[in-house]
Amino acid sequence: MKKTYILLFISGMSAVLLWCCKPSQILSGPSEPTHMEAKNARKRWPDANFHSLREGYTLFVSQCGKCHEYNSPGAYSEDDWTDILHKMARKAHLKEGEEEKVRRYIFAKKKPENE
Ligand code: HEC
Repeated sequence: MKKTYILLFISGMSAVLLWCCKPSQILSGPSEPTHMEAKNARKRWPDANFHSLREGYTLFVSQCGKCHEYNSPGAYSEDDWTDILHKMARKAHLKEGEEEKVRRYIFAKKKPENE
């Protein structure tokens, strides 16, 4: 009888652990751009492509997590992102053009399911 309770307890704890650590939460950092996102980005900015979005992603990962956690693209409106990025680009010492690449990467990720 006692053994049953212990077993129940262990399976309950395992369920809690599994729920806490499910892969989507472990992997919830910035995600790489997809080809679909690149295709959509090209409709918006004809000179955008998978490569330039990927540069934005690399800059974001390397420069934007130094002082604080990565911010989710869905956390701010596009207008707010533009203002914030202007300020943060200076903090991250982004070169001319790099801010725009990061902006496009963020906007490409800002799909409704990310909001
Ligand atoms: C040198 C440190 C530093 C770097 C690098 C940096 N940030 Fe920040 N960031 C801050 C500080 C400090 C704040 C909070 C105070 C402020 O708004 O200035 C902040 C705030 C933010 C906020 C919240 C703004 C708000 O109004 O709620 C966002 C979003 C953000 N950063 C994004 C970024 C992005 C994107 C990058 C890369 C381009 C970046 N940060 C690089 C220091 C940094």
